[in-house]
Amino acid sequence: MDAEVFHSLKNLTQGVAPLTELFRTDPSRSQWLTIDACGIHADFSRQRINKTLYEALLHSAEVVDVRASLRKMMAGDVLNVTEDRRVGHMALRAPATSSSLAQQASGQLERAKALADGVRSGAVCGVTGKQFATVINIGIGGSDLGPAMVTRALRRVANGPVVKFVSNIDAADLDEALHGAHPETTLFVVSSKTFTTLETMHNAERARRWVQASVPDWAHHFIAATSHAEVALNWGIQKDRCLEFFDWVGGRFSLSSVIGFPVICVIGGDQFSEFLGGMAEMDHHAVTTSTEHNLPLMHALMWWMNSALHSFPTVAVIPYSHDLSRLPAYLQQLVMESNGKSVGVDGRSVLGGTSPVVWGEAGTNGQHAFFQMLHQGTQVVPVEFVTTAASLGTDDAAHDLLFANVIAQSEALAAGRTHSEPHKSFEGNRPSSVIALDELSPRRLGSLIAMYEHSVAIQGWLMGINSFDQWGVELGKILAVNAATAIASGASRDEQTMTHPLLNWYVSIQKKMSRNQ
Ligand code: F6P
Repeated sequence: MDAEVFHSLKNLTQGVAPLTELFRTDPSRSQWLTIDACGIHADFSRQRINKTLYEALLHSAEVVDVRASLRKMMAGDVLNVTEDRRVGHMALRAPATSSSLAQQASGQLERAKALADGVRSGAVCGVTGKQFATVINIGIGGSDLGPAMVTRALRRVANGPVVKFVSNIDAADLDEALHGAHPETTLFVVSSKTFTTLETMHNAERARRWVQASVPDWAHHFIAATSHAEVALNWGIQKDRCLEFFDWVGGRFSLSSVIGFPVICVIGGDQFSEFLGGMAEMDHHAVTTSTEHNLPLMHALMWWMNSALHSFPTVAVIPYSHDLSRLPAYLQQLVMESNGKSVGVDGRSVLGGTSPVVWGEAGTNGQHAFFQMLHQGTQVVPVEFVTTAASLGTDDAAHDLLFANVIAQSEALAAGRTHSEPHKSFEGNRPSSVIALDELSPRRLGSLIAMYEHSVAIQGWLMGINSFDQWGVELGKILAVNAATAIASGASRDEQTMTHPLLNWYVSIQKKMSRNQ
């Protein structure tokens, strides 16, 4: 964004009155700061924004021409300039006839659905003819967080095998997943865009040894979801069990690709199509709706305003929905891996803060842990309450209490309370939004996820950064390989690095425990 525009927007934040005052002077505030789209009711009225700032932000979105970028993303243009890659994840849920990318994607999706439905019915089974009772997804980052979050969120429509997720290089993760599983009835899904990620390949090799010990013909028990089919086939995956996606789908934007395979195993192909339908509905809304009624765009403006203009360093995402409890973890990667950068596509420093620290925990649990700090701490933390209108039908009274707590917390944060005793005073003026789905169905969840995907991309365009690369994760990967090589050699290091004493301590303690001797 142009420096002059940025600074004038930042100046406008100084003139925003406290929230109580804003509501008193403009009772219509809730109307222009609320958007209903795709079954989602989004209330941004308790954000620190007045009409002048609102109009200036809308104007800046027009100047940056966010909707043109959305259209380019829908067409799968090369928006990932530092890797010279197309950004085509919207094509994953578009009609097959809409583009060559969509056609490619739909062929693989049909394969994934047929395979998953085969697993569900028993037509696709283990080599000894027994039906798969357990599916274990081995993947990390975008090859884990999205499917794990959705599997949990949609557990009420689940009617397939037990699906577990293993991501961590810590052996405890796979140990836990293998507990109670039997090689003859276990199917592993090796989910990895690159099929080279250290954690995933290490765990996959261990899983293969575990199957092989009882079932020599192990390959029947493995499926791959990858964009590097040749590497997966070399590893030993059978061709008919190798599901493909494409280099034009970023890892953290891959949930609607065959990376969703474990979800299809749990909810079935038809329900997964509903999920994709919800995403496509939000895609259409994002591309066709005017700026002031455009949900992902307005969401992006609020998040960008908070991090770049108000300089709030974190945002708490609090799902008031037990089944959405993995949403904060999913959003951590989507937001922070995409926008946790300091330089723009032009190589220059970005003006204002980029990605906030995203954190959170399901409500109402968070209220009894960290909400004290949100209400009375010295830092202002914008809160995003994510909830549903429909109860699960098992305890409507509990659902009313859940929603009542969203209202109460949002009001307490914004309005505060004056009290003669300082420790009983609430400063108030603490911003929050409410994102309420009418129900937690596959379709609505799809729309919610697509809203976040687009919001993240739009925030990137407002900042002038490339949201689709992740160079910041590379250095640590290289150093981990170096450190692992040094540990494996068992020799202490003489070279003076910041970490050689720690490495030498680890090597020597392993020797004492006689593991490496
Ligand atoms: O951590 C970096 C990263 O490349 C993520 O972007 C990605 O989602 C994750 O690793 C896993 O990568 P892959 O799917 O290739 O195993």
